Amino acid sequence: MTGPARAISPEEHLEGERVTLRLVTLADCTERYVAWLADPEVSRYLETRWSPQPLESVRAFVADMLASAHSYLFAIVRRETGEHVGNVKVGPVDTRHAYADVSYFLGERSAWGKGLGTEAVQLATDFGFARLGLARMQAGLYKENVGSQRVLEKCGYVVEGVLRQKLVLGDRRDDHVVLGLLRHEWLARRPEGGA
Ligand SMILES: CC(C)(COP(=O)(O)OP(=O)(O)OC[C@H]1O[C@@H](n2cnc3c(N)ncnc32)[C@H](O)[C@@H]1OP(=O)(O)O)[C@@H](O)C(=O)NCCC(=O)NCCS
Repeated sequence: MTGPARAISPEEHLEGERVTLRLVTLADCTERYVAWLADPEVSRYLETRWSPQPLESVRAFVADMLASAHSYLFAIVRRETGEHVGNVKVGPVDTRHAYADVSYFLGERSAWGKGLGTEAVQLATDFGFARLGLARMQAGLYKENVGSQRVLEKCGYVVEGVLRQKLVLGDRRDDHVVLGLLRHEWLARRPEGGA
């Protein structure tokens, strides 16, 4: 598939210590991916939960992402095993204001709690600032999703606002917490301290 000019090619890998990010391709759209989204534990805080996500929908979403000039859908791959365990998305990028959203999930529950989510979000954040030249990155989450908030905070994001009772979560409502990270804050956290 020939898409628009992109900041990363499908062949390139963003290497972390324990995970690698590379663009999700149609070959990644398997029944296992479908099973991730159908797992209520995985999808509890994901907006995908509102409608069935059969293989055709997953393929259509990935094809859209590959063709998009403004979104980057990365596969989170465990270096140890080569296994695709989840996704992290940077986008959509607002090119006028130079910011983007980041969102993520680890579909393999066996991969939770090992620091892989944090590493994936850090790599995606580095991509956004270093490769896309963003001024700001941001994420939103359900207040109850404390693990996800911790992942973002470990990557330097700070809570900027709480939209009270904005979201439906099961049989109750929950707050929507918005976190953001600015370019100079990201630079200051780098080992070279802002170089
Ligand atoms: C949220 C998610 C990405 C976390 O990834 P992970 O790899 O398990 O998280 P990490 O191992 O990197 O943990 C990072 C920190 O969060 C904490 N944490 C992770 N899950 C937690 C949980 N369920 N409850 C409390 N703390 C949790 C860890 O203890 C760690 O903190 P510490 O270093 O201070 O001890 C993963 O659980 C997931 O994909 N969940 C389902 C989808 C989802 O909710 N996506 C986010 C939507 S906003």
